[in-house]
Amino acid sequence: MNQHLRPQSIAFIDVVSQRQRLGKAIDEAMARVLGHCQFINGPEVTQLEAELAAFSGAKHVVTCASGTDALLMVLMAKGVGRGDAVLCPSFTFCATGEAVALAGATPVFVDVDEATFNMDAASLKRGIATARKRGLKPRAIVPVDLFGQAADHDAVTAVAEAEGLFVLDDAAQGFGASYKGRKLGTFGLATATSFFPAKPLGCFGDGGAIFTDDAQLAETLKSIRVHGQGTDKYDNVRLGLTGRLDTMQAAILIEKLRIFEDEIAARNEVAERYARGLGNVVTVPHLAKGCSSVWAQYTIRLPKGIDRDGFAATLKAQGIPTAIYYVKSMHQQTAYRDYPVAEGGLPVSEKLSDDVISLPMHAYLDEPTQDRIIRAVRGAVST
Ligand SMILES: Cc1ncc(COP(=O)(O)O)c(C=O)c1O
Repeated sequence: MNQHLRPQSIAFIDVVSQRQRLGKAIDEAMARVLGHCQFINGPEVTQLEAELAAFSGAKHVVTCASGTDALLMVLMAKGVGRGDAVLCPSFTFCATGEAVALAGATPVFVDVDEATFNMDAASLKRGIATARKRGLKPRAIVPVDLFGQAADHDAVTAVAEAEGLFVLDDAAQGFGASYKGRKLGTFGLATATSFFPAKPLGCFGDGGAIFTDDAQLAETLKSIRVHGQGTDKYDNVRLGLTGRLDTMQAAILIEKLRIFEDEIAARNEVAERYARGLGNVVTVPHLAKGCSSVWAQYTIRLPKGIDRDGFAATLKAQGIPTAIYYVKSMHQQTAYRDYPVAEGGLPVSEKLSDDVISLPMHAYLDEPTQDRIIRAVRGAVST
């Protein structure tokens, strides 16, 4: 094939453009860490935690090594374990339920709402009943702010309060979004997020954070992230992890947080143009009233009769990458298929796994590139 005829490839998530935009600021931030050599628990870690607290409105922020650790550490801090049930949506990244299983508890999978892809309150109630019938003690609910959109936190909170459960919000994809004017990080007992590089706020490796208004919980989490240490470094008072965020990642995140709001606005402009250009040919994402999104993914549903693999191949031939989140819901995966699901099954999760596909989404997608993607999608569904 002639090189000049090959369409230029589009980035699915463009970390390179952001790196170029922040170039010198990041170089200098990393040089400062190399200068002071406090690679663990350096001053940037404390600074980042204060800045994340100010950004989100949460009283306490405890950074940690990943989003998975963030979830796990809260469950460990609350003593969730054997015999306990934790309610999770099935249509999510595996870490949501994995953290529950790693804590020794049982994830009970519930269905999601077809329009928003987020936890469905009716299925959640059925899941709690299922857990009790199985002799498990429901302890917590982990709603996920999937693809960047806040879950229906009022509905989840109402069920949690009625049932005496705590809420651990999985905002790994949604940090930066808000619900009824309040930023994620302020719902439930605690919120977990991930700074994996592809996340809306990502670092240059693995990282995560926990947000809470509970001072006691924050202290316990700080102990858990250093092997459960007590006041005497060599008298560990509980089980813990090597769960710290390193100083270099914190320094990088401080610079990225400065442009985060601007990037969220740019992502929303892309989402609006996609919706205008595609809304009459595919099912575009639906933002529920009072919810905003940071568009970790822009996930569409294909009309009946359109072969998803063929659609992806058609776009790929034009240099446009796509991805399927999630081709299998958690309860359909080998490691999780023996865990309970809410009575009545999870038909929406299964349907979504069959027909969703995500388009390139990032803050540096210019209008000509957006138009190219829109034209390609329209062409692929009309053939
Ligand atoms: C919904 C959700 N929860 C948890 C995680 C885990 O985050 P990490 O990869 O930082 O462990 C992810 C990461 O992809 C995620 O998407």
